[in-house]
Amino acid sequence: MTFETVPQQLGDCLDWVFGIFDASPLYFGHGTDSAWDEAVQLVLQAAELPIDSGDEVLAHYLNEAQRERIAQWTQRRVDERIPLPYLTGRAWFAGLAFHCDERALVPRSPLAELIVRDYQPWWAGAAPRRILDLCCGGGAIGIAAARYNELCEVVLADISADALALAQRNVALHEVGDRVHCVQGDLFEALSNETFDLILTNPPYVDANDLAAMPSEYRVEPPLGLGSGQDGLDISRRILAQAATYLSEHGMLFLEVGNSWLALDELLKDQALSWLSFESGGHGVLAATAGELPAIAAALNKSQS
Ligand SMILES: C[S@@+](CC[C@H](N)C(=O)[O-])C[C@H]1O[C@@H](n2cnc3c(N)ncnc32)[C@H](O)[C@@H]1O
Repeated sequence: MTFETVPQQLGDCLDWVFGIFDASPLYFGHGTDSAWDEAVQLVLQAAELPIDSGDEVLAHYLNEAQRERIAQWTQRRVDERIPLPYLTGRAWFAGLAFHCDERALVPRSPLAELIVRDYQPWWAGAAPRRILDLCCGGGAIGIAAARYNELCEVVLADISADALALAQRNVALHEVGDRVHCVQGDLFEALSNETFDLILTNPPYVDANDLAAMPSEYRVEPPLGLGSGQDGLDISRRILAQAATYLSEHGMLFLEVGNSWLALDELLKDQALSWLSFESGGHGVLAATAGELPAIAAALNKSQS
C-alpha cells in the first residue's frame, strides 16, 4: 500500500479505510467499537484534525505525507493487528488525550465515567484530596482524576518501569507534575504509611480461559497488564486484602475486575457487594468502603482455606 492508492479527498478516504477494515477480521476493543469509528479516528489523526471534527472536513484535501501515513497505518492495522492507538501514539480517556504506546495497555476503563461524574453517587462530602491509581499503566485514570479535581494529589503506582516511563510522559503532557507522582513497586509496596481517600484500580484481571481466547490485538499489549491466574483474581485478592490499610477512615476502593466479576461475586456471595453500572458501557467494577473491606478480606481468606 502506498500513498497513491489512498484517495485525496477526506470523505472518499474515510470510505476507503472503512471498506478495508470492514473486509478484515479485525477486533475493535481499544477505544472504538466499529470499523467506521476506527476509520474516522485513523483518518482524522493522520490529517491532524480534531478528533471531534464534523462533516465540514469531508471535502478537505489530504497532502502526500498524510496519505502516506494513512496507507501505513491502515496496512499495519490489518496485517499486524496492532491496536490503532499504538499506531497513532494517542489514546483518549475521559475526554482527554494521552500518549499511548506498547509499554502499557491502551486505556479503556469504565472508571472514566466515575471520574467525570465526581464519583457520584458513591462519594459524599468534600471532594477527595488524595487519590491512588494502583496498577496505573500509562497513568490515564490517575491523571484524569487530577484533571477533573484540581485540588487533589494523586499517586500513580505500577510494578513496570516501562509503564511508569509512559505515565511520566503523560504527567508532563497534562502539566500536573506538581500534584501527581509516580512510584514503582509490587502493589502497595512503595506506599508505606500513606493513606488515600480513594483507591482507583484497574489491575490485570483476565482469567485463563479468556486469555487463551483473546483476539490478536490483545497480544500486542504487555502480558503483565492482562492475565491474573486461573480465575483472573490473583492480583485483586491481594488488593482486597491490603487496601483498607491504605485508606482514610471514610475512604473508598473502586476495583475493576471485568468479566472476572462473576467469580468474585461467587466467592463473596455472603457479602452485600456494590457493583457499579455505567451509562457508557463497561461492567465489573466493585465499590467498597474502608469499613466494608475487612469483612471482604476475611471472607476471601476463608474461601481459600
Ligand atoms: C490492566 S493494566 C491497567 C493499566 C491502566 N490502569 C489503565 O487502565 O489503562 C494493569 C497494570 O497493572 C500493572 N501490574 C501488574 N502486576 C502488578 C503488581 N503486582 N503491582 C503493581 N502493578 C502491577 C501492569 O504493569 C499494568 O500496567
